[in-house]
Amino acid sequence: MNSKGAPHLKIDPFRLERWLLEKAEIDLGGGGVAKLQLKEVIPQMPTDTAMMYGRTCGSEALRAQVAEWYRVEPENVLITSGTSEANLIINLVLLEQGDEYFTEVPQYEQTTGLARMLGAKVKPFHLVEDKGWAPDLKELKEKVNRHTKLIFLNNPNNPTGAIMTQEEMQALCEIAEHVGAYVHCDNALRGSETDGKPAATPEFYERGVITGSISKLGATSPRIGWIVAEKEIIERCWVMKDYTTLSHCGIGEMIAERLLTNRARYIKRNQTIKQANVDTWNAWCEENPDLVTCAEPKGGFTVFPRYKNRLGSSKFSERLLKEEGVMVSPGDQFGVERHLRINIGMKGETLAQGLDRIGRFMRRTLK
Ligand SMILES: Cc1ncc(COP(=O)(O)O)c(C=O)c1O
Repeated sequence: MNSKGAPHLKIDPFRLERWLLEKAEIDLGGGGVAKLQLKEVIPQMPTDTAMMYGRTCGSEALRAQVAEWYRVEPENVLITSGTSEANLIINLVLLEQGDEYFTEVPQYEQTTGLARMLGAKVKPFHLVEDKGWAPDLKELKEKVNRHTKLIFLNNPNNPTGAIMTQEEMQALCEIAEHVGAYVHCDNALRGSETDGKPAATPEFYERGVITGSISKLGATSPRIGWIVAEKEIIERCWVMKDYTTLSHCGIGEMIAERLLTNRARYIKRNQTIKQANVDTWNAWCEENPDLVTCAEPKGGFTVFPRYKNRLGSSKFSERLLKEEGVMVSPGDQFGVERHLRINIGMKGETLAQGLDRIGRFMRRTLK
């Protein structure tokens, strides 16, 4: 707050989302799965649907669907415009200037950008590559204190595809409870788990907050997401939502209801698409052990290899795009250098073609 009374909010560009707008012949830059067509969800969309605001907290049917998936009550759910708005609302509601905010690293940059904008002191705790990107809970425990307001994580993790286990989630919440901090789990990748079972979330913890969406079930354009939390937190978030978007997309809500009712089918689709690409990826890694090391992802639609090359990840990605027409996302946009995020969520031959070109580029620049 400056002396004139108005907060002066400064926000850094969201580097990843701007980078992904670059044009590429082969696009392996994103983090999602091949998108569904509308007819695969609603074969005949009723055209006599009135285009009106719905209930601003979400329709009863949709809240009930999300509640069932998380085994909570519908009153524990607020529908939002994607995980993006859900994350914004959580930060607006829970954070104050000067609060200490812990985020796992690597992770998707949105929430830390927002926390910095709101004047929080953003601090890292790390996922350890040699341990399959497991969280360093010892580091977190040593760092948190009574000023810590919120601990943030992605589960499944974007970009590594690692999954925090139930035991780790429990231990992390105990650390948070000790200092009275909230735990915010961005669960946008729910439904992308390789074994088809939902990754751990902190709904059992009083100050646990979960955000997610239908985007990673293959539907990004309907812009439907949610917050799952204690009723008191949901009430506060709803008050905020009246000021952010008021209402989410009504047509999106119809699509989301249908998607979630039949979610087993779309989770199976995710698994099938991913498995073919994991096989392609594993075969490429076996053929090129001198180029990369990588843990196999347990969730998500990306791999996050460490590469053996002197180029920094941004320079690497820029040159790869220019010289080979292939888009990948640089590790430094997730807080970790010498890594690349490569999408394995597309259908068909695209991954194999992209990997051929990446291999060619890596050999050319390997020194
Ligand atoms: C971890 C994570 N959070 C949030 C988002 C934003 O997703 P949504 O489409 O639900 O707003 C993404 C998108 O890739 C993501 O990977």
